[in-house]
Amino acid sequence: MAILPIVIYPDPRLEQVSEEVTEINDEIRALVADMVETCYAADGVGLAAVQIGALKRIFVLDPTFAGGSKTDPALVFINPKIEATEGKIKEEEGCLSLPGVFIPVERFAKTRVSATNLAGERFELEGTGLLSRAFQHELDHLDGHLTIEKIGGIRRKLALRKLRTPEEE
Ligand code: NI
Repeated sequence: MAILPIVIYPDPRLEQVSEEVTEINDEIRALVADMVETCYAADGVGLAAVQIGALKRIFVLDPTFAGGSKTDPALVFINPKIEATEGKIKEEEGCLSLPGVFIPVERFAKTRVSATNLAGERFELEGTGLLSRAFQHELDHLDGHLTIEKIGGIRRKLALRKLRTPEEE
């Protein structure tokens, strides 16, 4: 396991669509372990594989989001898919790839996702509030989308002025 550098905007990898995982092998297990360690080291609540430079459809989330405790294993979503949504809510959102930048983003208030876990089993999880927001934020990463795209013009410019380079942190 290793803490890896986080890919920071405007790195072009963040705009790429990640590939489906076809087999859960040692390479994928090692990637997930690195993702979890990197996410926690950065004090993040979630991380997509592309954020450490791997274009695979995987994201991890802090287990406390789904009612678990901090010592529980991180939640791992491989080949995730949104199954159902309900309502809308707009709130400010941060991203480890946009350090210091917070953007108001409208998201579904309730989301049900399906995904494969590290044991290769398909599961479903429903989230409201921050968990629902995190599902959609991380799924966006897998499709090459960032929060900064949701606003344009002068608002985007102003938001990006707050962008910190990792050295400044
Ligand atoms: Ni993000």
